[in-house]
Amino acid sequence: MNILKLLEDHVIKALIAAGVPADTPPMVRAGARTNFGDYQCNAVMAAAKKMGTNPRELAQTVLEHLDLGTIAEKTEIAGPGFINIHLSPTWLAKSLNNCIADERAGVVKAEPQTIVVDYSAPNVAKEMHVGHLRSTIIGDASVRTLEFLGHKVIRQNHLGDWGTQFGMLIAHLEELEKNNHEALGLELADLETFYREAKKRFDDDSDFAEKARNYVVDLQSGNNHCLKLWKKLVDVTLAHNQENYDRLNVSLTPADVMGESAYNDSLPTIIRALGNKGLLTEDQGAQVVFLNEFKNKQGEPMGVIVRKSDGGFLYTTTDLAAIRHRCHTLNADRVLYYVDARQGQHFEQIYAIAKKAGFSTDHASLEHHALGMMLGKDGKPFRTRAGGTIKLADLLDEAEERAAVVIATKSADLDEEQKVQVIKAIAMGSVKYADLSKNRTSDYVFDWDNMLSFEGNTAPYILYAYTRVKSIFRKAGVTERDLKGTITLTEVTERELALKLNQFSEVLESCAKEGMPHQLCAYLYDVSATFMKFYEVCPVNKEGVADEVRISRLLMCALTARILNLGLGLLGINTVEKM
Ligand code: ARG
Repeated sequence: MNILKLLEDHVIKALIAAGVPADTPPMVRAGARTNFGDYQCNAVMAAAKKMGTNPRELAQTVLEHLDLGTIAEKTEIAGPGFINIHLSPTWLAKSLNNCIADERAGVVKAEPQTIVVDYSAPNVAKEMHVGHLRSTIIGDASVRTLEFLGHKVIRQNHLGDWGTQFGMLIAHLEELEKNNHEALGLELADLETFYREAKKRFDDDSDFAEKARNYVVDLQSGNNHCLKLWKKLVDVTLAHNQENYDRLNVSLTPADVMGESAYNDSLPTIIRALGNKGLLTEDQGAQVVFLNEFKNKQGEPMGVIVRKSDGGFLYTTTDLAAIRHRCHTLNADRVLYYVDARQGQHFEQIYAIAKKAGFSTDHASLEHHALGMMLGKDGKPFRTRAGGTIKLADLLDEAEERAAVVIATKSADLDEEQKVQVIKAIAMGSVKYADLSKNRTSDYVFDWDNMLSFEGNTAPYILYAYTRVKSIFRKAGVTERDLKGTITLTEVTERELALKLNQFSEVLESCAKEGMPHQLCAYLYDVSATFMKFYEVCPVNKEGVADEVRISRLLMCALTARILNLGLGLLGINTVEKM
C-alpha cells in the first residue's frame, strides 16, 4: 500500500473538481509533525496565485471535493492554504492487518522496467580504494531496491581494463615472470606496489619505456603474447575485487563485469557513425565532436575528442559504445551511473553526443547518480597518515578490529560463534550504513566513532532495535506464525508506529526513483526510534496485559522486525538475532 500515491490520486481529483489547472502537481507530503496532520497538501497556494484567487477560499473548495472515505478521520485548512490530512486509526490498523499476511510487508510491485546500473567500476592492476567504496555500496543498495520492486536490473561493472598504461604493466609482468616465477603471486597480491614499480621502471628506464610503448600497439592489434599477460592482470584484479565484494555482501559477481575492453571492437563503428551523422570535425589530427550547448571559457562551443591524432580511442569513446549497447542491445528504460560527481561534465557530454548520434533511444532515461567525495575528519580527501590512498581491504580489517572492541564491553552473554557473527555484522554494517545514510551527492566525513555508535542514525542502533524486537518474541515464547488475532490501535505511540510501518512502500518507491538510499536509512531509523517509544508505553510481556492487546502489540512487533530486516537487506546489511 502506497499511502502517498493513494492520497495524491484523491487530491488530484479534488483539485480538478475545484477548477485548478489540470497540470498542477498535488504536492502531498508526509507531515513533519503530527499536529499538522499525517500528510499535508501544499498545492493550493501556488495554484491560487496562478488563478488569481484567494488561497484559503480555494483550499475550502478543494476540501469540499476531497472525498477520502474511510482513509482520513479529519481534514483541515491551516495557515495560508495548507490542507492537513489526519488518517483514521481504524484504516491504519486495517492496512497493517493486510501487511501482516504479506511476506513483502505490503510493498507493491512497480510497473517493471529494464534498468541498467553501472556501479563499482574499479581499475585493473590497481587496488580498489575507498573512492570506489561509495559507488559499490550505494549502487548495490539501489540495485537491490529496484529488484525488490520488481524491475529487471542489469548490473554492469564498467571495469577500467584498457588504456595505454597496460603497455608498462605487461612489460613489467613479463620481466617478473622471466626472473622469478615464484614471486609472481606475491607481487600481484599487492597490486598497488606492482603498479608503482611498473611506473617507476617506465620513468627511469628508456629501453623499458620503449618496449612498453610497443606493447601498447601490440596489445591493441591483438598480439597473443600481450593479450595473455593482460588477461592475467585482469583475472588477478577481479579475484581480488571479488574478495572485497563478498566480504561487503555486495551482489556483484564476475558475470557482471563488462569492462572497457569489451567495447574495443565497436569503437571504429562508433567513430564511423559519428562521421555519417556529420558530427565529426578534424582538429590537429584528432577527431572532435563540437557541442554548441556546452561553451568553453572563451564562450566557444566545447570540443570533445573521440579519437586521438595517433588513432587511439578515449574513455569518452568507450562510454558512447556502452550507451549504444545498453540502449539498443539491453533495451534499457533507464541507465543509472553511480560515479564520482567530478565526472558530471563527462556524462553530460556523452549523453548529448549519444542523443545526436542515435546511440541512445528516446524512451531511455540516462541518469548520472553523482557521488560526493569521502573525506577524512580534517575535511580533506580521505588518506592514510602518510598521505597514501587507503586500501579497501585494510579499511574493512580496521572496521572489524574496532567493532570487536565495542562488542567486548556490550555483549557479555554471547558465545564465541555468536560474537564473531555480531562483530562482522556491526563492522560491515557500520561502514556501509555510514555511507548509505548520507545524501550521496554531498561529500561525507568518514568517522569511526560516529559510525560505530549505538546512538543516533547508525547501523548499530538499528541492528540493536531489531534484536530488541526479537528478544520480545523469545520472552513471550511465541513465533510470528503462532499469532492469531488482529491489530487495534489505542495508544498515541501505537498509532505513530502504525503510520510509520504503513509508509515502507512509499519510501522504497522514492528511493528507487531518485537512487537515494539515505531516504531508506532515515526511514529505518525512524521506525526503530518510534518502536522504542512504543515499547516503553505499550508493554507486551508484562503481567496484566489482556490477551487481545498482547497479540495486537506482538503483531506490531512482528511487522517492525520484518520491515527492519527487509529494509536492511535492501541496503545489503545483514541482521543478527541477538546482540
Ligand atoms: N573506472 C572509472 C573510474 O575509476 C569509473 C567508470 C564509471 N563508469 C562509466 N561508464 N564511465 O573513475
